[in-house]
Amino acid sequence: MKYKLLLISLLAMIHITPFAQNATRNQKMSKLISENFALADSQYRYMMKLIPTGELPQTFDKNTKQVLTKEITWWCTGFYPGSLLYIYEQTKNETIKAEALRALKVIEPNQTYTGNHDLGFMMYCSFGNAYRLFKDEKYKQIIFKSAESLATRYRPTLKLIQSWNKNQYFNCPVIIDNLMNLEMMNWVSQNGGSSQYQKIAETHTNTAMKVFYRPDYSSYHVIDFDEKTGKVLKKTTHQGAANSSAWSRGQAWGLYGFITMYRSTKNAAYLAHAKNIAQFYLNHPNLPVDLIPYWDFDAGQQPFAKRDASAAAITASALMELGQYSSGAEKEKYINAGVKMLESLSNDHYRSKYGENGGFLIQHCVGAYPFNSEVDVPLIYADYYFLEALKRYKDWYLK
Ligand code: GLY
Repeated sequence: MKYKLLLISLLAMIHITPFAQNATRNQKMSKLISENFALADSQYRYMMKLIPTGELPQTFDKNTKQVLTKEITWWCTGFYPGSLLYIYEQTKNETIKAEALRALKVIEPNQTYTGNHDLGFMMYCSFGNAYRLFKDEKYKQIIFKSAESLATRYRPTLKLIQSWNKNQYFNCPVIIDNLMNLEMMNWVSQNGGSSQYQKIAETHTNTAMKVFYRPDYSSYHVIDFDEKTGKVLKKTTHQGAANSSAWSRGQAWGLYGFITMYRSTKNAAYLAHAKNIAQFYLNHPNLPVDLIPYWDFDAGQQPFAKRDASAAAITASALMELGQYSSGAEKEKYINAGVKMLESLSNDHYRSKYGENGGFLIQHCVGAYPFNSEVDVPLIYADYYFLEALKRYKDWYLK
């Protein structure tokens, strides 16, 4: 009888524990999500007053106490309207919506830009969210045009989309970040556009899986090609610590990219690859306990290495989606890791208080350490993926 009771209570624990754990997690996350969107709403209303017409926010300079802005073709210009739209979706604040629509108008001419591969970042994080929320046909046409512009950079000899133009460092470079531009290509093919865009996206992904990844599932940052022959000239880095190192944001872009490609294609090889990247990232001995990585995993042993909160925000959002395509303990592992990242990003060290940092939310990011550019600063894309990860938790797990 005693053993029977023990067995019943053990069985009950096995069944109840995950639910109880999720209820506690949901309670915590519900508070974190409301608190962060309320803060984001006021921070972005603060920031919008500091931005000159025709420019988009990049970062905050602590010395001059200025919000630094950039011209419209800078790769990050879609993240400001995108962040505003994520905020509007939660708070329904019409001032935020009006600013988002104003910023969309500013970057609209980018739809015909063919000077780099960043069309997905610029036009899908912005107009993709605008179309999702408002279903305005005009936005759809802008996304279609942007995909057409991006497709001009597809190089059949490489079976890849060329990232940057030939420059002083590279001949025909492709960077791991480029996987992030493919979601827009798939979306266009799946929403009435030509199927060629998804074919390009899949071909790019298949080639990237072969050329960028090392046996431990870490990724190179840049592969430089001979455009005529398609031959690899060098496997190298631009923003990482070394050619052989694992630049943290590059690992985050790769993880996120393979997950979105799985979403669109249901190709099991992409999902398996994403899980291997997650394994590399989450089990790395240099990943700090708060799960905010150093700017390069291989810089983690240097004293005073800077963290890159943007890599954590991107990874948190990616892990939320990876949780959607996993089950049981594996699913919980991904969601819990993403939650831990969001909790760390929400603490006083990483998150600004109202009026700080020119209105940016997340600080301690690194743009390009080797060039001493954007080191230990807020960056607009950290905010975007942070807000996206919170939204994803709310939509998918907060039940
Ligand atoms: N796509 C450029 C970067 O991640 O810095």
